Amino acid sequence: MTDFVRLVEVGPRDGLQNEKQSVATADKIELIDRLSATGLRTIEATSFVSPRWIPQLADAAEVYAGIRRRPGIGYPVLVPNEQGYARARAAGADEVAVFAAASEAFSRTNINASIDASIERFRPILARARADRINVRGYVSTVLGCPYQGAVPVAAVVDVATRLYRLGCYEISLGDTIGVGTPRAARALLRAVAQSVPIEALAVHFHDTYGQALANIDACLEEGVRVVDAAVSGAGGCPYAKGASGNVASEDVVYLLHGLGMQTGVDLGALAATGRWLAALLGRETGSKVGRALAEPA
Ligand code: HMG
Ligand code: MG
Repeated sequence: MTDFVRLVEVGPRDGLQNEKQSVATADKIELIDRLSATGLRTIEATSFVSPRWIPQLADAAEVYAGIRRRPGIGYPVLVPNEQGYARARAAGADEVAVFAAASEAFSRTNINASIDASIERFRPILARARADRINVRGYVSTVLGCPYQGAVPVAAVVDVATRLYRLGCYEISLGDTIGVGTPRAARALLRAVAQSVPIEALAVHFHDTYGQALANIDACLEEGVRVVDAAVSGAGGCPYAKGASGNVASEDVVYLLHGLGMQTGVDLGALAATGRWLAALLGRETGSKVGRALAEPA
């Protein structure tokens, strides 16, 4: 097992999609450009979903056109359907992500479709992406609990993750959308999914509602996962997931990984400064404990 961990920075998408106040397009662009200078390899830039559902990201095309894309960095975007895929391609996106859920109730609330129907919707996207030589990532939401249904069977997560992988997603990100998971459950889930999807093709995506995200990530690293989603300054949440607070803060994950002797290629100081810049923009203190500690005078 390699000790390099790839961080997937989801702040500009998962972070900003849940902000009540509107963030100017220029500020979104500046956020992504600042993140591009920290050593991150993957920055999820925005999503081409319905602007009626997520008005916060209605300016996706302008944001994508405005960012300075650096070589060696991927800038994936979320797409829920073929219309989103077409918009993303027109904007120049070279990687996309589709998103399904392990809970039927959440699927209907989040994307207005059953799990089966959503996977049928993704089929033509994956076919077009293959022809366009575009990589597609797949998310599975509500893997450790659902705001509507409560418990989610492990078998349901394995089923959806396996279907997305077989459909052609190169990587499957397992999302604890409402942050209810704890380490033993997270580890057992990862172990079960890894029976059907190679561990090298799995990523973990923890929200930190109950303060368990770092512990969960540590457990999943021990199981062999080497791709971790996180949002700078701990921004984020899903508007269709009641009680979902921020993502785990990228700065906190990088601090953990470096402390474990793992490599990320990320400059922690620069990342933390970006997190504080974003928090100030949103008129609050950074949600990253590491970001706050690093700001204190020595
Ligand atoms: P729908 O209303 O069923 O869509 O929404 P529809 O196909 O019936 O179309 C209705 C209207 O929306 C039409 O416009 C379409 O053109 C338009 P009208 O004719 O009425 O003027 N439309 C679009 N416009 C722009 N871009 C599009 C698009 N699609 C349709 N792509 C739909 C279905 C999937 C579109 C909607 O439910 C949606 O956009 N949902 C997105 C919800 C979302 O973004 N949630 C947050 C992301 S998921 C997440 O955060 C979890 C994650 O972080 C992992 C984790 O934490 O677990 C990934
Ligand atoms: Mg999320």
